Amino acid sequence: MKLTTKLLAATAMVSASAASAVELEVTHWWTSGGEAAAVSEFAKAFNETEHTWVDGAIAGSGGTARPIIISRILGGDPMGATQLNHGRQAEELIEAGLLLDLTDVAEAGGWTDIVNPTSLLDSCTLDGKIYCVPVNIHSWQWLWLSHAAFEKAGVDVPTDWNEYIAAADALKAADVIPLAMGKQGWQQSGAFGVMAVGIAGQDAWLAVNRDHDESVAAGPEYAKVFEAAASARELAADSNVQDWNQATNLVITGQAGAQIMGDWAQGEFSVAEAVAGEDYSCLPGLGLNEVLDTGGDAFYFPVNDDPEITAAQKELAALLISPEVQVSFNLAKGSLPVRGDIDLSAANDCMQKGLEILASGGILPSGDMNNSADTSTQIEDLMAQFWSSDMSAADAQAKYADIIADAD
Ligand code: GAL
Repeated sequence: MKLTTKLLAATAMVSASAASAVELEVTHWWTSGGEAAAVSEFAKAFNETEHTWVDGAIAGSGGTARPIIISRILGGDPMGATQLNHGRQAEELIEAGLLLDLTDVAEAGGWTDIVNPTSLLDSCTLDGKIYCVPVNIHSWQWLWLSHAAFEKAGVDVPTDWNEYIAAADALKAADVIPLAMGKQGWQQSGAFGVMAVGIAGQDAWLAVNRDHDESVAAGPEYAKVFEAAASARELAADSNVQDWNQATNLVITGQAGAQIMGDWAQGEFSVAEAVAGEDYSCLPGLGLNEVLDTGGDAFYFPVNDDPEITAAQKELAALLISPEVQVSFNLAKGSLPVRGDIDLSAANDCMQKGLEILASGGILPSGDMNNSADTSTQIEDLMAQFWSSDMSAADAQAKYADIIADAD
């Protein structure tokens, strides 16, 4: 009799768990070595539940993947979950009611108390409801320097952008590419933004990116930034790569002296087992203006009419922001966690620098949070033209000011 009861109970358990076990297709654009290592931490954690992570990696940059993701959701062929950047990329999907309201998960998890800075939630909050789970803070504001390259050139590793520019001739003479840069507009636009913060300063950057003040975009501070961008274009003339991580690899291997890139580059250094402070250095704010921007990634969940899928989506949302997953994912990704109550003593020197700046409040909102996707695309297209031509700094600045004048 007892055996039968146990068998019935076990059967009931299996059928219940089988009924609630869900396969979720998760889309993202994390396909480099470091990114793949990081996203596998998410998949591993989700697969330890009763559910299954079906990986939907989309090759190419965010500029390639975002239209695919958004058109699938708009077109009625949604994935179970997707990565996008923090900021305004999903605002039309949220307004169209196509993304799952996560407010109950956020309240249960105390997100408004643990997410730091809370502005990470603002950009996916509409009418008081929360539609995304932030998973990291990535900042563009970094210059990565190869120790081997400067040793080969016989010069000290620079401690700021000005020292780096002064060392460029020595790098060239040693047959080292001074600046690594992939031939894609989003990379060139990101680097331009970093030079703007470092050279024009935070106030000018905010006036242009937050306030869309065309006069500052057309003014003398930004003229210096466009001149620096023209010099950087020369320094990257021999950087014949496309993808950002190929450019990072030029620095990792000492073929290039430096790269301006977001701190997702750390994932590549760590996969290559390069050691911060020994094999490479990292200068936040180009070493001129130690500040970070709070870019990064969040996950969104397209609505669907199956309550079991919805339950699994909410379980994944809670898992991505849980302390242990925040540590394992961010250490691999090279990003900072979205919560301040976890132990990141394992973080390397560069991440520790980032954590200190974050703790000191030296942060700026990311470009993705300030500009609409359309404005961001226009700026990226201008930078792609500028970097692939001999367009003058003055002409580029005039076109840029026009974009800012109409920015939304
Ligand atoms: C960014 C994203 C990062 C990083 C980078 C390069 O938009 O926030 O996670 O992976 O793209 O793919």
